[in-house]
Amino acid sequence: LLPQELIRLKRDGEPLPLEEIEAFVQGIADDRISDAQIGAFTMAVFLNGMSREEVVALTTATRDSGHVMQWDSLNLPGPIVDKHSTGGVGDLVSLVLGPWVAACGAFVPMISGRGLGHTGGTLDKLESIPGYNPYPAPERFSKVVKSTGVAIIGQTGNLAPADKRIYGVRDVTATVESIPLITASILGKKLASGLDALVMDVKVGSGAFMPTPEKSRELAKSIANVATQAGTPTTALLTDMSQPLAPCAGNAVEIVETLALLRGERPDSRVMQVTRELAVEMLMAGKLVASREEALAKLEKALTSGAAADVFARMVHELGGPADFMERSEHYLATAPVIQAVYPEQSGIVQCIDTRAVGMSVVELGGGRLRNDASVDHSVGFSEIAEVGDRVDNQRPLAIVHARSEDAAARAAAQLRDAVTLGDAPATADTLLQDTFR
Ligand code: URA
Repeated sequence: LLPQELIRLKRDGEPLPLEEIEAFVQGIADDRISDAQIGAFTMAVFLNGMSREEVVALTTATRDSGHVMQWDSLNLPGPIVDKHSTGGVGDLVSLVLGPWVAACGAFVPMISGRGLGHTGGTLDKLESIPGYNPYPAPERFSKVVKSTGVAIIGQTGNLAPADKRIYGVRDVTATVESIPLITASILGKKLASGLDALVMDVKVGSGAFMPTPEKSRELAKSIANVATQAGTPTTALLTDMSQPLAPCAGNAVEIVETLALLRGERPDSRVMQVTRELAVEMLMAGKLVASREEALAKLEKALTSGAAADVFARMVHELGGPADFMERSEHYLATAPVIQAVYPEQSGIVQCIDTRAVGMSVVELGGGRLRNDASVDHSVGFSEIAEVGDRVDNQRPLAIVHARSEDAAARAAAQLRDAVTLGDAPATADTLLQDTFR
């Protein structure tokens, strides 16, 4: 079928022959299909949707448009599992989860991203660590996965190249917000890392990528079903992002919190509850345990024995960071020149938080990017962010701001005060784990 004929079918709401989807995506990877044709196709999908089978075909074709990793030759003594999230604020889950499940016998080749919009990026956070190289040669990546159980790196050259073009066109043609296209884009990249099982963390709430709870739910269901049908058993959890997940947002500040959590501090914090639920799913999906109870016991042991922290320390060192990072992190992490408490104008109880605004404030402080090619200031952000239900007053601040200058600190403080709604009534946080899709 000519590309224009495939576009015509979708435009007219007709079913697409599945093998033609594959040929079209291969044509995108080979540059035989033009940006105009990609734009027309994505708009037709945006308007008319796709059947489940069509989304599976688009996903597998995207996955297979470039290099698909193979782990068989390494004879790893455990399953290859990974987690992906739709992104959030104070979402340092990957940094704790990867080492934690690796300490329980899983192997985690985690390809992570940079900050996008208001959300923080795992790679930006890891680059707070001097020397950490998120772009190792492929052999080095395999070696680190094998020796430590986890390597968190950035996306390199030939992984799902069709998605790079499709996403670039969607970004400028108002076709990002389409569940079939988001599903195929996320999974096309993720499944190219040759996984035995995947766990997906789909966020819901004021800091989530999807605009409404219904859309988040629809995406979670779509991802779990499509990935499983594409051959990678996948569970999707719907988790709360109506306030920052950890009580900090930025880069180095989130690394500091990660180290504390890996040392076993605050095991019942909100971020650890979400991380633990995802970890249980990964151990079960990887068949490393037979029950939830067994998973919880194994995870508890890996945390309290220091095994999870040890895996993190080894990963950091093997990817170029300092050997004593865990012991002397304060010696290595950048600190901001201005560190100030942000007090509320009036005392009150935190009722709700505009989490997207908090994330954008971190970006404006310099902790994220306003342009693709900009660099990131690792030292800035917020720490000790008050949670929904906390009382704040002239003793207990809304947060501590870390900024480059007094002016930047004052601007961020004003933005944070605007983002937090205070009241007199007691308030409770939204349920952390809202649903599970298998
Ligand atoms: N993230 C992706 O990788 N793709 C999308 O389409 C949306 C978010």
